[in-house]
Amino acid sequence: MSIAFIGLGIMGSRMAANLLKNKVDLTVFNRSPEAVKELGSKGAKTANSAIEAAKEADIVFSMLSAPDVVSEVFFGGNKVLASMKSGAIWVDCTTVNPSFSQQAYREAKKYNVQFIDAPVAGTKPVAENAELVFITGGEKSLVDQVEPYLLYMGNKVLHVGETGKGSSFKMLVNLLLAQSMVAFSETVLLGEKMGLDKEFLLDTIPNLPVIAPFVKAKAEMIRNNDYDTQFPLELMYKDLHLAAVTAYENNQSLFQGNIAKELFGFASQNGYERMDFAAIYQFLEGKKS
Ligand SMILES: NC(=O)c1ccc[n+]([C@@H]2O[C@H](COP(=O)([O-])OP(=O)(O)OC[C@H]3O[C@@H](n4cnc5c(N)ncnc54)[C@H](OP(=O)(O)O)[C@@H]3O)[C@@H](O)[C@H]2O)c1
Repeated sequence: MSIAFIGLGIMGSRMAANLLKNKVDLTVFNRSPEAVKELGSKGAKTANSAIEAAKEADIVFSMLSAPDVVSEVFFGGNKVLASMKSGAIWVDCTTVNPSFSQQAYREAKKYNVQFIDAPVAGTKPVAENAELVFITGGEKSLVDQVEPYLLYMGNKVLHVGETGKGSSFKMLVNLLLAQSMVAFSETVLLGEKMGLDKEFLLDTIPNLPVIAPFVKAKAEMIRNNDYDTQFPLELMYKDLHLAAVTAYENNQSLFQGNIAKELFGFASQNGYERMDFAAIYQFLEGKKS
């Protein structure tokens, strides 16, 4: 099997590196050439365009930032889909909205390309350690065909249902993640204002049953005032925007989700866009270092 990987950012570069560790015949492409060179030095074949990477591939993975970028690369200006082999499989790991995944499926079908939405749960170190969970939507038999490759990059495949259901579930996860981070940040900040010791709050709150378990790791970022980017804040803003669009499409109100969206948006527009999304604490604190 010949495999292509398009999009070598924080996540994609680590996922592609794990395919290489498993001796996969891999061709890579990324808009910025440094990431391509780096993967090339690890043994990947390198391409000068997304089309060149994808045209001979049996499976094409994409891990791009957002739906508009995926559409531009695959069926907009770059027309990767039109250059792919008939019968090849496109696995989009980008976090997108479910109606976009359905559109991608329809576009792929025009070129006899098969499509799976396969966003991931897990962040930078999890991707590095090949411990991602792939949340898939599409025909189960198709997911079974690509599963060995998914398991080179992760340790679990959660098949949710037909096309778009992987993206649907991933969106719910990030909606909770964003709101939990805001709730934790505001709680700690109010505690501090009331004169409670910050270290006490950071040690104690993450162990309470009322809190989401992931905040333990984020509490360390706040403690050390070090927001080394695992999940860029601007992409959390993007995910909340996609959740809002999806809520509209489904005629479901999303009061708190939209407040969180505007908060992450405002932070993103004020210099926090490439910090980890946990930096929403620092933004709310109003003391950027
Ligand atoms: N980081 C996480 O913890 C995490 C976890 C789960 C899911 N995700 C999702 O995974 C996806 C990738 O996230 P990431 O953290 O790897 O983001 P990232 O580091 O910002 O990487 C984004 C990728 O998209 C490419 N890209 C952006 N705009 C482009 C354009 N106009 N044309 C062509 N390529 C473009 C970037 O290319 P350049 O290198 O040239 O900029 C890069 O390869 C996102 O959908 C994100 O929501 C992220």
